[in-house]
Amino acid sequence: MLRISQLRKVFSNGSGVEMTALDNVNLDVRPGDFITIIGSNGAGKSTLLNVIAGVYEVDEGEIWIDGENVTNQPEYRRAHLIGRVFQDPMIGTAASMTIEENLAMAMKRAKRLRLVPGVTAKDRARFRELLAVLGLGLENRLQEPVGLLSGGQRQALTLLMATISNPKLLLLDEHTAALDPKTAEMICQLTKRIVENRELTVLMVTHDLKQALELGNRTIMMDQGQIILDLQDPERADMTVDELLDQFEAVRGKRLLDDRVLLV
Ligand SMILES: Nc1ncnc2c1ncn2[C@@H]1O[C@H](COP(=O)(O)OP(=O)(O)O)[C@@H](O)[C@H]1O
Ligand SMILES: [Mg+2]
Repeated sequence: MLRISQLRKVFSNGSGVEMTALDNVNLDVRPGDFITIIGSNGAGKSTLLNVIAGVYEVDEGEIWIDGENVTNQPEYRRAHLIGRVFQDPMIGTAASMTIEENLAMAMKRAKRLRLVPGVTAKDRARFRELLAVLGLGLENRLQEPVGLLSGGQRQALTLLMATISNPKLLLLDEHTAALDPKTAEMICQLTKRIVENRELTVLMVTHDLKQALELGNRTIMMDQGQIILDLQDPERADMTVDELLDQFEAVRGKRLLDDRVLLV
């Protein structure tokens, strides 16, 4: 489904200092894999998702999605293959547009249409059905501007928009990190439900180690631009957070220290 080989991405800052954000990254993702990605701040997690989506060009290596070599494709050409949700609930949706206009935009993007489509009665019925699944009552608020919704409601809507066209890949970058614990748990459960229902293939970055082990079927850990652990079920299934930290120490010879990484 997704095959990444020997990826290298180097950033240079204004004064010519180079930073290797991805250092020989190899990853083979099977259809239906739900991979959680963990690692300390600056490990290269977001960069990995960004190069998959085509936000940045890579310096070396190849990226294949569903049998297609997308390595040198610009972001817009692979956008229909990929759904994304970011940390900030304000990013994925347009505040001044209504719920139904936002969903229509997401559909348009998926179908690669140029014009913004009007919302037909048929669309509206489908949107109602999809929104009802969220269990937040949004199906009765189709014509309200998204700016009136809470952060959690907006993130739920973003998740729906990112998956409306059954993308080949769903990329989630700490999409529950900016929410209060209860709302984060709601979005987490929703993510699980949508992914299971649609049999999506997912890469999800999280700083919550417990969540990383509970969700999905595979966990990869990154450090200094490299994938240093790749744990799969059944080995992963009954692993504890402590055992995960021990594994990191065994590979890296140091403790995973990062106040943003949640240990419980
Ligand atoms: N657009 C960019 N320009 C320059 N450096 C960047 C850019 N994006 C990321 N980096 C650097 O690449 C490294 C990896 O960053 P990132 O992928 O965001 O880490 P993570 O998401 O794991 O915290 C960091 O050192 C970061 O400063
Ligand atoms: Mg990041």
